[in-house]
Amino acid sequence: MGSFFTSTDLFTMFFILLSTFLAIIDGKFSEQYTETKATKHVDKITHLHFYFHDIVSGKHPTAILVAGRRNSFGSTAMIDDPLTEGPDPGSKLVGRAQGMYSMASQYDGSLLMVVNFVFKEGKFNGSSVSVLGRNPVLDAVREMPVVGGSGIFRFARGYALAKTYQYNIKSGDAVVEYNVFVMHH
Ligand SMILES: *[C@@H]1O[C@H](CO)[C@@H](O)[C@H](O)[C@H]1NC(C)=O
Repeated sequence: MGSFFTSTDLFTMFFILLSTFLAIIDGKFSEQYTETKATKHVDKITHLHFYFHDIVSGKHPTAILVAGRRNSFGSTAMIDDPLTEGPDPGSKLVGRAQGMYSMASQYDGSLLMVVNFVFKEGKFNGSSVSVLGRNPVLDAVREMPVVGGSGIFRFARGYALAKTYQYNIKSGDAVVEYNVFVMHH
């Protein structure tokens, strides 16, 4: 006498159950990886360190006001800020911060940052990470989420820590030190 289910039957049943389960979760437009597949992949963590130069004054500003009044609620700047290896603006250019920030708070200096950091260095050349977060500029250290990335940073998630290195009250120019921790494929 054989057992009630052969191993093939069990496998088929398991597969049908699993497919049903996946269909409920995902609908028809997407595919979910099985745990076995997922655990074969090891994520990498990359730590990036650079200085961000936000130049609002002079003949060649890298941040321009596109809406509102500077430093008031709603003010919005479009930026293409150089990222350098050291705090000196003349030090090696490692990338650019392209995007925008807005004063999103009425009562404190909190910015909404929507910025892509695109890099030029070695294997990172052309790869980018996207940062979307709250930047309370008067805090010593601000943490913002890394919400995605491209190139070497595909599937990125992580966080950026920003610390003001220098702020010129007169001109409004700022140098900000960034430490970015990115988990990616
Ligand atoms: C980065 O890539 C661009 C073209 O994709 C190339 O022109 C440039 O020389 C590269 N820079 C470095 C530092 O490798």
